[in-house]
Amino acid sequence: MRKFGSRTWSESKLDCVEEYARAYLRVMQNQNWCRLDYVDAFAGRGKQTLKSGSILSEAEEFFGGPSEREDTEDFLIGSALRALRTEKDGIRCFDRYLFVDTDKTCLEQLETHVRQEYQYANHKVNFICGNANSKLREYVRGIDWEKTRALVFLDPYGLEVGWNLIKELADTRACDVWYLFPLGGVTRLMANDGQIPDAWATRLDQLFGTGGWRQEFYRPSAQRSLFSEDKATFLKDAPTKRIVEYIRDRLATVFAAVSDIGVLRNSKGAPLFALLLGVSNPSRAATEKALRIANHLVKGLNQP
Ligand SMILES: C[S@@+](CC[C@H](N)C(=O)[O-])C[C@H]1O[C@@H](n2cnc3c(N)ncnc32)[C@H](O)[C@@H]1O
Repeated sequence: MRKFGSRTWSESKLDCVEEYARAYLRVMQNQNWCRLDYVDAFAGRGKQTLKSGSILSEAEEFFGGPSEREDTEDFLIGSALRALRTEKDGIRCFDRYLFVDTDKTCLEQLETHVRQEYQYANHKVNFICGNANSKLREYVRGIDWEKTRALVFLDPYGLEVGWNLIKELADTRACDVWYLFPLGGVTRLMANDGQIPDAWATRLDQLFGTGGWRQEFYRPSAQRSLFSEDKATFLKDAPTKRIVEYIRDRLATVFAAVSDIGVLRNSKGAPLFALLLGVSNPSRAATEKALRIANHLVKGLNQP
């Protein structure tokens, strides 16, 4: 495995999930009783030219200015094609791929790459245009989880993943879920004085699956507002470490086990995302193996 240190946060993230997919296939090599699915809920277009309106530029625009984009590369192979390239490893292959994206053009581009480079696997690939939250819910409800195991990657730009989806995936007791949690996006929505517009607060509720983040990250200010005597004011107390621990604790309420967390930072060290794995299979053997691999991989992400 190449070292994560010298690469962009985006590539480190993709390396981490790809390495896990390989290890997952090795672990499942002789488990012939089950079908193996790979589910990419934010599949993207397959490959990115990073300098022109690319995935990395769009994501970093969400979090900051052009200076944060200095460490981009020219070209990046995305998660969907990385999952498909495990086909060449001679280990067990995924039996089915689900690639979901809201953007029809992205999916068409991805489909072209798959046809050109992985023609032999094309019959196993399903391209689904739509919102990850509803499309994965349909998928989860249509599967016999006694006979299926799935590796799921949730790779949103921002706060698109709803808690209901996380819970549905955890309830399968059969999915390993890599979740790219939007640390930067959350920090942005949490105003320092606690005066958060209703629409933003609702998004945070949906993301965390609870309104408990208000008590967790805000404390009443000792000073009352000068102009509104009767209105309590609040101070934000939400360092990255606490947000990261909070989302890990939240995931631990629904998953059998949750990995350590990798914090992905931009070139200036500002936290953009947290990457972590939720394991829904409660078997001790399954959780131990999954966590051993995942924790080793995320450790690499946290190195400066
Ligand atoms: C960060 S990119 C994913 C990149 C991809 N995993 C890769 O490695 O190339 C996010 C993708 O999610 C898509 N997207 C945004 N909101 C979505 C949603 N609610 N459901 C499904 N896809 C969505 C965007 O069109 C975009 O292609």
